[in-house]
Amino acid sequence: MGSWEGYDPATYGDQVADVYDRMYGPDDEAVACLTDLAGAGPVLELGIGTGRLALPLADEGLEVHGIDASQDMVDQLRSKPGGDRIPVAIGDFADVEIDGRFSLVFVAFNAFFVLLDVETQQRCFANVAAHLAPGGRFVVRTFVPDTSRFERDQHLEVQAVAVDGARLSASRHDPENQRVDSLIMWVSNAGVLTWPARLRYSYPDELDEMAAAAGLRLEHRWSGWAREPFEDDSAHQVSVYGRA
Ligand SMILES: C[S@@+](CC[C@H](N)C(=O)[O-])C[C@H]1O[C@@H](n2cnc3c(N)ncnc32)[C@H](O)[C@@H]1O
Repeated sequence: MGSWEGYDPATYGDQVADVYDRMYGPDDEAVACLTDLAGAGPVLELGIGTGRLALPLADEGLEVHGIDASQDMVDQLRSKPGGDRIPVAIGDFADVEIDGRFSLVFVAFNAFFVLLDVETQQRCFANVAAHLAPGGRFVVRTFVPDTSRFERDQHLEVQAVAVDGARLSASRHDPENQRVDSLIMWVSNAGVLTWPARLRYSYPDELDEMAAAAGLRLEHRWSGWAREPFEDDSAHQVSVYGRA
């Protein structure tokens, strides 16, 4: 008990793929904001998953590409109408091994934090910068770290509750390495489903430093996709980087 041996970039997606779209619904505000930032495209999503954001973006007429480590998540994308027209590379998005230059590269839903150390996050910024078309942008949406939620480096949370079940998470915090290991649970009459998630959180200033080292600079920081102002106590952040 207690080992994370065998956890790799595909583990989260492979274990959540069957229920992901039931757990996490559409996000019209994200799609509207990203469509606006994309200009004429093309667009690249890091951690494209089941296409929750990518498919509506493609429906807006944009050429959308993706990278994901989990074949099971991409199989879900492929099973949806229009899911076969989105080119997806299976691999680790830290390395962005994909041809092309993009007017918009984005990583949503805290997915940037799946890169588990600063060096890997930094490498991702550098690789993205090398894939931006002139005037292109890199958009990173994450939670803003708030370590006060951990008591004795643990946290239990009710993430969602509905008539058919509840989504809970049990987390352990490693403050020194800014790491959080979680098991997320969906508890319902049918039983309990679980999937593991490991994160390395970075503060907004750290993201800006990584961006600067990659030759990018912050153009905007909002607290949400509707471009709400970012404040000291904002729970989320949407950063838009362009070339310095
Ligand atoms: C929380 S889901 C987000 C999916 C999608 N972006 C959305 O908003 O619905 C994170 C996705 O990142 C993928 N992923 C996790 N680590 C990865 C890595 N190192 N390289 C590529 N994909 C990764 C997972 O398989 C999963 O599909």
